[in-house]
Amino acid sequence: MPTKILFVCLGNICRSPAAEAVFLKMLETRKSLAKYEIDSAGTGGWHVGKKADERMRKAASKRGIEIKSLSRQISVKDFQEFDLILTMDYDNLANVKSLLDKTSNQCHAVIKPVLSYASSSSLMEVPDPYYGGEQGFEDVLDLLEDACEGLFMELNQE
Ligand code: 4NP
Repeated sequence: MPTKILFVCLGNICRSPAAEAVFLKMLETRKSLAKYEIDSAGTGGWHVGKKADERMRKAASKRGIEIKSLSRQISVKDFQEFDLILTMDYDNLANVKSLLDKTSNQCHAVIKPVLSYASSSSLMEVPDPYYGGEQGFEDVLDLLEDACEGLFMELNQE
């Protein structure tokens, strides 16, 4: 059975689709795609059906990473469907847990901050780049590449 991982942010157009694409690229390079199912979602629904933010897609593309996903909102089913739900910031974490508390007590997934896997940063939140400049998108990718490396290592340790 593949390990199923869901990355979650607020709008699912900047940070979590970037995390999904960064990890997918890593899995592809390491010939490990078949062992995983990767997805992303937002706690909010304002951007449902939309492509990722163009600034995020551009920044990722410069690193050879293509962001293909369309925005969707997290749903109660995801708590049963996924093994790991990785949130970008504390608000996302609180909102995911509150959705779980309000809707169902059935949860298979382990829910934690994605940066709990990062080793080069003491930050515990991936900053929201939406209202900022270009550098914010680069910083998000740096943090996510670090965290995804740690995640891959942890999942593949013997
Ligand atoms: P994301 O960024 O949560 O990383 O996708 C945002 C996208 C949209 C908005 C806020 C953050 N917004 O306010 O529409």
